[in-house]
Amino acid sequence: MTNAYEIAHKTSLQDPETFWGEAAKDIAWVKPADKVLDDSAAPLYRWFVGGELNTCYNAVDRHVEAGRGEQTAIIYDSPITGAKRKISYAELQDQVARFAGVLAGQGVTKGDRVIVYMPMIPEALVAMLACARLGAIHSVVFGGFAPHELATRIDDAKPTALVCASCGLEPGRVVRYKPNIDAAIDYASHKVGSVVVFQREQEKADLIPGRDVDWAEAVAKAEPHPCVTVAATDPLYILYTSGTTGQPKGVVRDNGGHAVALRWTMTNLYNVQPGDVYWAASDVGWVVGHSYICYAPLLTGCTTVVFEGKPVGTPDAGTFWRVIEEYKVKLLFTAPTAFRAIRREDPNGEFLKKYDRSSLQSLFLAGERSDPETLKWAEEHLQVPVVDHWWQTETGWAICGNPLGLTQFPVKHGSPTKAMPGWDVQVVDEGRHQVEPGQIGSLVCKLPLPPGTLPTLWNAEARYISSYLEEFPGYYKTGDAGFIDDEGYIYVMTRTDDVINVAGHRLSTGAMEEVLAKHPDVAECAVIGVADDLKGQTPLGFVCLKMGVTRSEDDIRKELVKLVRDEIGPVAAFKQAVIVKRLPKTRSGKILRGTMQKIADNQDFKMPATIDDPDILPEIEEALEGIGLAKKRTDAAL
Ligand code: COA
Ligand code: AMP
Repeated sequence: MTNAYEIAHKTSLQDPETFWGEAAKDIAWVKPADKVLDDSAAPLYRWFVGGELNTCYNAVDRHVEAGRGEQTAIIYDSPITGAKRKISYAELQDQVARFAGVLAGQGVTKGDRVIVYMPMIPEALVAMLACARLGAIHSVVFGGFAPHELATRIDDAKPTALVCASCGLEPGRVVRYKPNIDAAIDYASHKVGSVVVFQREQEKADLIPGRDVDWAEAVAKAEPHPCVTVAATDPLYILYTSGTTGQPKGVVRDNGGHAVALRWTMTNLYNVQPGDVYWAASDVGWVVGHSYICYAPLLTGCTTVVFEGKPVGTPDAGTFWRVIEEYKVKLLFTAPTAFRAIRREDPNGEFLKKYDRSSLQSLFLAGERSDPETLKWAEEHLQVPVVDHWWQTETGWAICGNPLGLTQFPVKHGSPTKAMPGWDVQVVDEGRHQVEPGQIGSLVCKLPLPPGTLPTLWNAEARYISSYLEEFPGYYKTGDAGFIDDEGYIYVMTRTDDVINVAGHRLSTGAMEEVLAKHPDVAECAVIGVADDLKGQTPLGFVCLKMGVTRSEDDIRKELVKLVRDEIGPVAAFKQAVIVKRLPKTRSGKILRGTMQKIADNQDFKMPATIDDPDILPEIEEALEGIGLAKKRTDAAL
């Protein structure tokens, strides 16, 4: 029997121009595209070539013009400060237009970059939308990154202006943002001429005369700025994400394909309609925050929730359910780690019982593999469909999921269900051959990728090609390994590179190794991700000290932890380093990180045929036992 999903999936692959051309009718264009899909430069593809629009107009002004001006666009709820605020579409239009006026006054014009370093407050969305309004390109940097990471992004994006808040708020501590901004500007070679600072009452920042501008004062004086028309293929934003080195990848998102794809997902994947309350409990610094806190809900005329808190501890494990009851949230989207945290605090769902959750119709999870136990717990306690869906910063929206707006499939725990329309997902072996159902291999997607996915990396087309398109010609390499069963259910098991996922946050072990290697006592090092009950994975460093170092190992370990926190930021959650004499390597000198990870996680492994010195593995095991890992292994296994 053919269902709505099968029809959509088949059409999207056989006739993508008709499929996405139809979806594009939900977006207001200044000029419709001349060509829906331009494949003339394959494997580089462009969507909606010749089309012109403004993303901010579609997300804000259009709804005011259509009579939604009084509807709430943004609900802000901060259990940390107790602040609650509702902003209507009409108010949002005014705030965004004025802030666009402020940025224009700072010299920002179409195509210029603006770095946004903000916590979870509505002004973060206002700043992003104001950039979109001007045709400027925003690059939001997560608040948990340290000045050095910010400086790397400043030097790559070369922004005209920076927008920040004076501080962010983590439970029990105020995170001063402004000193991070000042330090990053000092580190960076690119000189930023203008910093707009939103002063929060919890911590007012010192402003540097001539460079820094007070948000409120500037807005009070600013004239509203109209929407600037851009090409569909012009970049809307750059979002930096972890690759295999310390140099993050600047994922580029265009205007036209992004608006079309996100609007389409709201109806067909999430099954929400204009006016619904949509809550992505993530952070604007991540791709989930870009797509589903800011753009998709607003492009659809929904109400989006900006939540400044944690799933537990602000004040308790009932905080999500309180927000759902208070604002009649229809859909909640978060990372599995948030549910693991809630389940740990409230295994029997006592907090759940205190709140009316009748408005909630579905829960969506993404960002890391959903462990079946957590998923089952959520299903049992929430009694709504729980959808695990798989996506990446690069793709901007789900590669794979359970499309509630088309056809709701039975859930197989451990699988994020089926390839979304637009996605031809296949599993291939090292020889690039498709494997049999059930066999594990590299997950790849046949080109072209659908609209809304990355057309390139900022200033790095060659890296884009070599990272994603070269290894499997004609396909996009996801960097994930998994399998597809005989009913087309996709299983995403692990990364094939050294990217790890910590609490749903994507981190590069390579970047952490680069930091550890800077320590004067370190001869060589390796970082792996080890299994963690709460965060999915946590990083663990192995270091070999230089000959002749006699300092206290405890001091060195503490310095290493501090170094990673200072250079990458608290978000790296790097808390443990072990000192070993040698690292296991292949005969060609490649560190056997995968084997070390298996030992740490008590998994079975085969002795690598190419190992240079097998005697090093028991040394690694011993070191891991010293920190409470690798306990259950037997000597016979080594
Ligand atoms: N600014 C500054 N510091 C930040 C920060 C921010 N925006 N976000 C996190 N940090 C800090 C945390 O305070 C913590 O610091 P600490 O080492 O001093 O305790 C560190 O970075 C690590 O953060 P995290 O790994 O998130 O751990 P946590 O203990 O603060 O919270 C969870 C754990 C599970 C509750 C939290 O990660 C969570 O809710 N995750 C799921 C939602 C999500 O963000 N998903 C993202 C993709 S959908
Ligand atoms: P990010 O770019 O931060 O969104 O991280 C993307 C990576 O997170 C993917 O390549 C996967 O490794 C992992 N990931 C995201 N969603 C899922 C999921 N639903 N199941 C398994 N892994 C996931």
